[in-house]
Amino acid sequence: MNPQAEELNKIIQAKNPVIYDLLSAKGKNIFFPKKGILGQTADAKGTRINATIGAAVEDNGSPMRLESIESNIKLDPSLVFPYAPSFGRPDIRAKWQSMIFEKNPSLQGKTLSLPVVTNALTHGVSMAGYLFVDEGDQVIVPDLFWGNYNLILTHAYGAQLSKFNLFKDGGFDLEAFRAKLAEGGIGKKILILNFPNNPTGYTPTQAEIKAIVGIIKESAEAGNKIVVFSDDAYFGLVYEEGIEPESIFAPLSDLHENVLALKIDGPTKEDYVWGFRVGFMTYGVKGGDAELYGALEAKTGGAVRGNISNAANVSQSLLLSAFENEAYHAQKEAKFEIMNTRYQAVKEVLKDDKYQQYFTALPYNSGYFMCVQLAEGLDGEQVRQILIEKYSIGLINLNNVLRVAFSAVAASDVKELFEGIYNACKDAAQ
Ligand SMILES: Cc1ncc(COP(=O)(O)O)c(C=O)c1O
Repeated sequence: MNPQAEELNKIIQAKNPVIYDLLSAKGKNIFFPKKGILGQTADAKGTRINATIGAAVEDNGSPMRLESIESNIKLDPSLVFPYAPSFGRPDIRAKWQSMIFEKNPSLQGKTLSLPVVTNALTHGVSMAGYLFVDEGDQVIVPDLFWGNYNLILTHAYGAQLSKFNLFKDGGFDLEAFRAKLAEGGIGKKILILNFPNNPTGYTPTQAEIKAIVGIIKESAEAGNKIVVFSDDAYFGLVYEEGIEPESIFAPLSDLHENVLALKIDGPTKEDYVWGFRVGFMTYGVKGGDAELYGALEAKTGGAVRGNISNAANVSQSLLLSAFENEAYHAQKEAKFEIMNTRYQAVKEVLKDDKYQQYFTALPYNSGYFMCVQLAEGLDGEQVRQILIEKYSIGLINLNNVLRVAFSAVAASDVKELFEGIYNACKDAAQ
């Protein structure tokens, strides 16, 4: 093992041996190279003639660049053309951390790592897999989950997704969750929670979140070592009272020494920048301090360095300038209102009982999506095809559950959308 990895492992073992045990073999081996090219480049910072860096500079020392690119970007070239650090730009890391605290007021007084920048959330989940998932490890997910976890975790890291029933009596199935966590005896547990959920658009109520956190705590007290990935892709888009507005990462981040909470989040969906490819990984654990978090950040930064080198500087800089723009919050609020209006339109349209002949909505209250469960005997794939061909309506079929991205549908089209589904079901039933 590289001595720099050993150094990080020693820190983690001394601070919290459970976290060391949670790391995968790759996670134990990885480190951020402080020596070598990066170290020598850092040492040379400020020299008059600096010939270390693997990028080109103009004679005046500014980044070499093409006018045809620069002319389209208002930001200073130094914020755009050079590499960003593997950990992410320090300014956006600090800003995003302060935004996590603002958006989750119950985090006040808690100590978290600095976020490490990833190439958006998909890459964050992948890096979480790299650091914590070994071949054959079970990863606990609800039975309705974002399908890409299969490619990211199963195919890339050999995980087995182990599903629990998500809904019971119109809410979160706490008993199924408790039973799943207890399955297989005491040991390492890896869990992905994603609220608001894709595909269902469900976020647990505040009472349910308390119960879920209580179940995880009981499990930790029983001796399990648990890492929870909180995929917060749709954070902030909660449309109902009584639904938990904060991330479940907040109560998990200092729950128990045996629980490592890892928040995987970013602006992709929150700030409507799907193509920017910026995300963050932030750690929280009871008793976590700067040294422990520093070691986890170094491992994460090392994994990023060995995988994509670093995330786009231009995207990070554009986002930071938006976060610091005084109109940012009002603009975000205006977009929230549009999403909320679409959500309310769905709720309103679905008040019509006639739809229940062919489909019923699964619980939904947040995010970009909602799902309808087709009635017995209907074939989701057939309905989907009829919807495209006869009604010019596109949606996703997931085993006879149809996922509707109301985020992409004008409120004025929502009635037509559900009438289309109704009529396509009727066609299919004949
Ligand atoms: C639950 C969930 N997590 C993560 C992602 C990926 O986000 P990103 O585009 O930032 O990689 C998505 C995108 O569909 C998602 O639905």
